[in-house]
Amino acid sequence: MSITEEGAALPGYEGETDPRDAVQRPRALEIGPLTLADLAAVMALEAVSFPSPWSLATYHSELTRNRRSRYLKVSPVPGTNPPALPALIAQGGFMRFGAEMHIVTIAVQPDWRGRSIGEWLLLALLALGREEGARTATLEVRVSNQVALRLYRKLSFAEVGYRRRYYPDREDARILELADLHTQHVWSPLRERFERLSSLMRRA
Ligand SMILES: CC(C)(COP(=O)(O)OP(=O)(O)OC[C@H]1O[C@@H](n2cnc3c(N)ncnc32)[C@H](O)[C@@H]1OP(=O)(O)O)[C@@H](O)C(=O)NCCC(=O)NCCS
Repeated sequence: MSITEEGAALPGYEGETDPRDAVQRPRALEIGPLTLADLAAVMALEAVSFPSPWSLATYHSELTRNRRSRYLKVSPVPGTNPPALPALIAQGGFMRFGAEMHIVTIAVQPDWRGRSIGEWLLLALLALGREEGARTATLEVRVSNQVALRLYRKLSFAEVGYRRRYYPDREDARILELADLHTQHVWSPLRERFERLSSLMRRA
């Protein structure tokens, strides 16, 4: 599906067909900066999301010492959601080196995957990086991670390279790139999709 085809990629937001919805579904979500107070939840999310999770020390250093890094989280809007919901629904981040932003992580809670939250968060990261001067976004992805690959391709990332045995367990990585982020030609359809998702996710 193209990112310009509106609306269709929002399972769980247009109807009440998911039996988990009655008790679990957040009614409104927001995106904000990840903070030290989120790190316990980040560790739990890492453990269920990645074969080689980052450590608490790595995240702590990223949030406190790495001036190139930016991390965002998706969380329920306070007051609009059932109290039992997790405070952290998703998180992701990038490092920026001049005009290049390198997306270093993105993860959505398993129960909330497939509801466009990862796409929304990735677009928010791109918007922030672009605002701060990025013209190109890059990332690595495991060759076996078909879900993430589809997400990146949907947002027009193209494969530009390959790293053999890149990960600690020796799995290979594909290198993907989204170039010319600063141009209207590339950014307009992404911005439209981001705005559309933002208004749907924030709806209480
Ligand atoms: C990858 C990840 C962040 C995607 O988040 P998500 O919220 O589930 O994805 P979305 O609902 O926003 O889906 C966006 C697109 O991703 C792809 N996608 C999502 N779920 C998919 C699935 N089960 N099968 C195939 N493609 C899928 C589709 O292209 C989808 O667009 P579409 O609905 O128009 O087809 C999430 O699966 C995750 O946290 N995975 C574990 C951590 C991880 O692998 N991170 C990436 C490291 S590089």
